[in-house]
Amino acid sequence: MADLPVLVRPSELYRESFLAALREQQADGCGLEDSRAWTPAGVAADFPALLAHLNRFAPPAPVPEGFVPSEERWLVRGREYLGRVKIRHTLNDRLRQLGGHIGYELRPAARGQGYGKLILALALDRARELGLPRVLLTCDVENLGSRGVIEANGGECEGEFRLAFYEKPIRRYWIELDRS
Ligand SMILES: CC(C)(COP(=O)(O)OP(=O)(O)OC[C@H]1O[C@@H](n2cnc3c(N)ncnc32)[C@H](O)[C@@H]1OP(=O)(O)O)[C@@H](O)C(=O)NCCC(=O)NCCS
Repeated sequence: MADLPVLVRPSELYRESFLAALREQQADGCGLEDSRAWTPAGVAADFPALLAHLNRFAPPAPVPEGFVPSEERWLVRGREYLGRVKIRHTLNDRLRQLGGHIGYELRPAARGQGYGKLILALALDRARELGLPRVLLTCDVENLGSRGVIEANGGECEGEFRLAFYEKPIRRYWIELDRS
């Protein structure tokens, strides 16, 4: 039976597949803000540095002023990297406006096959484990894929907003986690 996709901690095990995903993403030009700045050559030159960077806000590490504790998890099937998700343990003023508790991206080759819904569903399981009663997600109004992912996971839209520090209109969604 084929391996089921699962969320794991970022690791060297997925190095080659992660680099292939970055090459796809460079051609595609769309993803989370941080990964758009990564190049396959730069990441390949020092993969441990990328792993350290991704883990920099993970408890119990102290978090610098203006940041919140958060963890990075990768969606993988066997040794294949499919996508990534950040789960923030709390919000600050800026994340309350833009970013929320959870952000995710799939490698281009894995999009449009239900993995978006899956990565968020697994991240919500993790948020429940962390004891969060509800989580905030934000996305661009024009990001129909992300809207579909959030709504399929029970997201309730709080409204559409324009922010002084971000160029596109956004939607904010809440997902209740403590409903039995
Ligand atoms: C957004 C993203 C995660 C969606 O993942 P995905 O695997 O393609 O989504 P899924 O296949 O799980 O689809 C979820 C739902 O949204 C819908 N959907 C997906 N892409 C869509 C699109 N481009 N337009 C309209 N609807 C779309 C699907 O139809 C599906 O609903 P359905 O089951 O009722 O048909 C993926 O496109 C991505 O990684 N984009 C780049 C990064 C990004 O935008 N991250 C989100 C930041 S908020």
